[in-house]
Amino acid sequence: MLKSITTFLYAVLIYAMFTGNFASAQQATKLTLRLDQSVTALSPVLYGLMTEEINYSYDGGIYAELIRNRIFKDNYKNPDHWSLVKNVTDSSAIVLDNKHPVNEALTECLRFNLATEGKNTGLANDGFWGIPVFPATNYRGSFYAMTDGNNPGPITVSIESTDGKTTFATANIAGVSGNWKKFTFNLTSTASVTSTADTRFVIRPSVKGSYWFTLVSLFPPTYLNTPNGNRRDIMQLLASMSPKFLRLPGGNYLEGNMFSTRYNWKNTLGPIDNRPGHQGTWGYRSSDGMGLLEYLKWCEDLKMEPLLAVFAGYTLNRDFVEAGPFLKPYVDDALEEIEYVTGDTTTRYGKLRARDGHPAPFPLHYVEIGNEDGFDMSGSYDGRFAQFYDAIRSKYPTLQIISTTGGKDFLGQRFPLTKRVPDIIDEHYYRNAFEMESDAYHYDNYDRNGPKIFVGEWATREGKPTPNFNSALGDAAWMTGMERNSDIVVMSCSAPLFVNVNPGGMQWESDLIGYNTLTSYGSPSYYAQQMFSNYHGDKVVNMIGEGIPVQVQKLNHKDSLNKVTPKTYPSLFYVTTRDSKTGRLYVKVVNAGDAAKDVTLDIQGVPSVKSSGKIVVMKADKPEDTNTITEPDKIKPIVLSYKTFKKNFSYNFPKYSITLLQIDTQ
Ligand code: AHR
Repeated sequence: MLKSITTFLYAVLIYAMFTGNFASAQQATKLTLRLDQSVTALSPVLYGLMTEEINYSYDGGIYAELIRNRIFKDNYKNPDHWSLVKNVTDSSAIVLDNKHPVNEALTECLRFNLATEGKNTGLANDGFWGIPVFPATNYRGSFYAMTDGNNPGPITVSIESTDGKTTFATANIAGVSGNWKKFTFNLTSTASVTSTADTRFVIRPSVKGSYWFTLVSLFPPTYLNTPNGNRRDIMQLLASMSPKFLRLPGGNYLEGNMFSTRYNWKNTLGPIDNRPGHQGTWGYRSSDGMGLLEYLKWCEDLKMEPLLAVFAGYTLNRDFVEAGPFLKPYVDDALEEIEYVTGDTTTRYGKLRARDGHPAPFPLHYVEIGNEDGFDMSGSYDGRFAQFYDAIRSKYPTLQIISTTGGKDFLGQRFPLTKRVPDIIDEHYYRNAFEMESDAYHYDNYDRNGPKIFVGEWATREGKPTPNFNSALGDAAWMTGMERNSDIVVMSCSAPLFVNVNPGGMQWESDLIGYNTLTSYGSPSYYAQQMFSNYHGDKVVNMIGEGIPVQVQKLNHKDSLNKVTPKTYPSLFYVTTRDSKTGRLYVKVVNAGDAAKDVTLDIQGVPSVKSSGKIVVMKADKPEDTNTITEPDKIKPIVLSYKTFKKNFSYNFPKYSITLLQIDTQ
């Protein structure tokens, strides 16, 4: 007993020495805000988003296409997600066909041989875990079709229940002939339907014969009604985070498992009719409906900038191209990609972008060379980075160039770059809550003279499919550290962003936003990040903590069997930013401990503060508490008005809570 008390007190002392607080846990907790002292700037682009095709992020996620395997390339042996709806005596059949290409992209199609008439036989697609049916909703559809019959009659398209008993919306198509032709249609559900995903999309020719179909597509209303656009509910969740940038297109998805499956942006341009799609890195094929221009429009719609990651000649199977002439085509490809994003319409690729429907160039300030190249054991990144760096710097001198070998949690530090100094280094951290909280001071002692830091992937990974409240506490503690050090941490984005929570939808646990076919929700971590991103000033205030309480690391079963001594570390984390124009303060306090804490806040360096202000608080009864697809609103921030702010006041921070105090100085 005596030994454990001694260990505990020793740990408190070590922590106090480390943070400079020199106070025991018994001392009253006080946070002093020194507004009279010099401040550092908070990066205006600190909070952004990271995206890639993982966990059905695009197909079956934000990209609103409802038909799965729309060009029949998901499986060269079977028409996955397609089936024949027929009675047992009907000899109608479907078979994959690659002998009737529409063009170079649409090389596969489905042949549907209708053997009987009047029996309701049809070709069904089960969508991404069903087709979402909502009341009074208009769906826009299309497909390529042809037939060998002379008088094929109308083709009926419907959204119906999976048992075929209820039709939610239906339309007829006429004019199918012996040559490929694209048909479009509208399906509208009635106002009285109850939302459901227990559904399928069905195509029913009426006259016997053979029919061929490909690029079968169906869209619900999209965000801002953009054609080939995004799901409204998910975009709304993202908009509520006020992100400043989108890191695209990955992640591993950028690299590909091999050269032939890297993210080849040129294959993702133009009408979807020209997109062959490609095998992604997370076990399924991508339609590439989310192409480069769709990414850029996504940015435009949410008023954020793209942070463009370019393929850097290294793939996940560790294949790579050494710097030199063989790398040059990839460097040129990156320059062309940048031109597609930023060039005016007199440039070759700017002109192409205009042809694709967007004459205006997009803003671009950041280009990242590859992804997690610290994993490249060959050490080729130093040379590859230098070659990309030189070419980009020479053509686009104002672009900030990001390298990917940073990060304490990855091997990258073994490969410091010697040939060129990046403007920014991308660091990745995937951890549990203890690791995040105990390392919340990570950047306090970072080199201020080196490259800036982009925390391009980070997450507290407790809870699946989406993080629980303990993760939100870990995230919030970590974000206090990033805000406090935003003079060097200029950008950050957690990852992965999305998960489809349907069975088989998740490849990576603990993802910020979850959804199924009908609806979506934010995890507690999502709301923590929303709070940090939406409430901040432009200057970081010097804040001194005294008597900061500690918490004891929870041991897992294995650790306790091994008699590992629990570690102690702070349980209260804090940061304040100030709006230099209005004087408004944003005080963020994270109480990760299991007890409420009375804290004295002492605001020094201003004559007075307004008594009325705002409080935003998010808390949980237990660290394991979470939101789910069926209970999406269990944990959310609540906004309260507060009338008794003073220059020196006491506030009780609940156990397991993240609190923002918005105080106006005067
Ligand atoms: O976010 C999931 C994966 O983690 C990313 O694709 C990769 O960059 C990292 O290893």
